[in-house]
Amino acid sequence: MTTVLDVQRFKEEGQRFAVLTAYDYLSAKILDEAGIPVLLVGDSLGMVMLGYPTTLPVTMDEMIHHAKAVARGAHQALLVGDMPFMSYHVSIEQAITSAGRFMQEGGMHAVKVEGGGRVVEMTQRLTGMGIPVMGHLGLTPQFVHQMGGFKVQGKSDKQAARILSDAKELEQAGAFSIVLEGVPSDLATRVTKALRIPTIGIGAGPGTDGQVLVFHDMLGLTTGKAPKFVKRYAQLAEEITRAAQTYAQEVGDGTFPGPEHSYSSNGAAAPAKAKLDEVKYGSSV
Ligand code: KIV
Repeated sequence: MTTVLDVQRFKEEGQRFAVLTAYDYLSAKILDEAGIPVLLVGDSLGMVMLGYPTTLPVTMDEMIHHAKAVARGAHQALLVGDMPFMSYHVSIEQAITSAGRFMQEGGMHAVKVEGGGRVVEMTQRLTGMGIPVMGHLGLTPQFVHQMGGFKVQGKSDKQAARILSDAKELEQAGAFSIVLEGVPSDLATRVTKALRIPTIGIGAGPGTDGQVLVFHDMLGLTTGKAPKFVKRYAQLAEEITRAAQTYAQEVGDGTFPGPEHSYSSNGAAAPAKAKLDEVKYGSSV
């Protein structure tokens, strides 16, 4: 099983690694069996799975529901639970309770928190009690209203210096890795070189130690114009549309179910293209 020590070793050995989001049992099982070493139950599930406009409405109960499903499907990957908005904002005690729920109820091995500043002390407390913490700097979606939208961060020298110092403080506080989202590539490379722990980029260029993408973006399940940093490795929305339309057509014209998908009482294959009226009056089997 991948542990936080393996992730550290990846960096030390110069081995770049892939991280993907996972929100349910079956996709977690597939990704785990595909050898993806780190799966993130991201609060992006609020937008991707639940249809919220931002990640802000996602609750801890919703996160736990999905985390449990992922933990049932994945047995090799390091599982990281993303602490949702307002699950660690009230106090350190609240953060400990939420992180504890991820570990005890959700079956996660680590948690992720957004931002620097007050999150640094929280990181120290959580790691001090055996809860590994992944940081998240740059474009931090829980700050969407503060940032005035989903905008690239760290373009000015002042912002860049802040991101670098937050990253160093998080490392110092015991974080085992840091997500760098939506920052210029040169800044991400600079942060990566300055840290002993691995960085994981999304929209941060090629210079980070690992990369993370949202499962549904990577597979082309989300449609429309994708953000620049997304690469679609498949076009599953188109494939699903095609399959659903073919299925509906075959149901309509009686091609499905065929004999190979039908049962008979005497073991003989049911006739192909059973007509609805024949089935209704019991004459087709
Ligand atoms: O919620 C999420 O999926 C994330 C990743 C994009 C890093 O935070």
